[in-house]
Amino acid sequence: MLIQRPRRLRGSALMRDAVAETTVSAKRLVMPHFVCEGSGVREPIGAMPGIDRVSIDNLARDVERDHACGVDAIILFGIPAVKDEKASQAYAADGIVQRAVREIKRAAPGVLVITDVCLCEYMSHGHCGVVRDGVIVNDASCELIAKTALSHAQAGADIVAPSDMMDGRVAAIRTTLDACGRCDTPILSYAVKYASAFYGPFREAAGSAPQFGDRRSYQMDFRNAREAEKEARLDVDEGADIVMVKPALAYLDIVRRVREAVSVPVCAYNVSGEYSMVKAAAAAGRVDERSIVIEILTAIVRAGADMVITYHARDIARERWL
Ligand code: PBG
Repeated sequence: MLIQRPRRLRGSALMRDAVAETTVSAKRLVMPHFVCEGSGVREPIGAMPGIDRVSIDNLARDVERDHACGVDAIILFGIPAVKDEKASQAYAADGIVQRAVREIKRAAPGVLVITDVCLCEYMSHGHCGVVRDGVIVNDASCELIAKTALSHAQAGADIVAPSDMMDGRVAAIRTTLDACGRCDTPILSYAVKYASAFYGPFREAAGSAPQFGDRRSYQMDFRNAREAEKEARLDVDEGADIVMVKPALAYLDIVRRVREAVSVPVCAYNVSGEYSMVKAAAAAGRVDERSIVIEILTAIVRAGADMVITYHARDIARERWL
């Protein structure tokens, strides 16, 4: 006689739903957007079917339409018209992201607006910090990153999300925000960001591929897992309100470790390369897109993510996949 028959609880959809351990809700998802200069602009990104670079007018329309379907949170990446050696457009009061935030807050005030805080899209050399003699200089970069975060908060961003991986930038941002009356703006830190080939399509989208070298002197080495706990704890100690693990899919062990190491919410970034692979396989008829997307997102949440940034958010909401 078999006492334990695990199949008893799998017999019907009703039974399975009643005992499911993990639920994914659209409320956890964050949709990324790429915003560029001009008006009426909509440029498809080759490697990321369904994702476009859009000017502010189209962005506001997209965000409003997505919100009507249930996408409540977005993260913004800016593509400026001009880049230079000090990333001037990153912290300009009338920079692309700053104007986009103001417009979204007017058009869709019910949407949670997160801004990616980085210098790479704004630097002529494409690195995430200030470059001197071929070296990415940490502390000078933190100053510019803090200025950038403040200008986003002043434009109305609900959360600022530094993705540069300089040491001490969370503390620098917190100090600057607090000194300027923004003590209530949370910081979502890309605390555990690995140097990854999964970012390839994003760099095409944002035009942010480094002009020399790579990002391995500041982003993490994917051979390391203990280091993820260290980075997450450091950022929490510096004042991070939410910590991120990025990429997500090949890093579910890291999501779990970070979840156990800190008590703040954990966000996972289901990055561009992960999206592109799914889209390519689905277009080739190799996998069923809806099933695979839901399985992937459920796995990320099961690993311990409270929030997930994903380019699939729009499809999931519009097509009612959940
Ligand atoms: C900027 C940044 C990157 C991503 C998010 N912020 C690119 C990078 O670090 O090279 C990647 C996002 C994605 O691949 O979807 N530093």
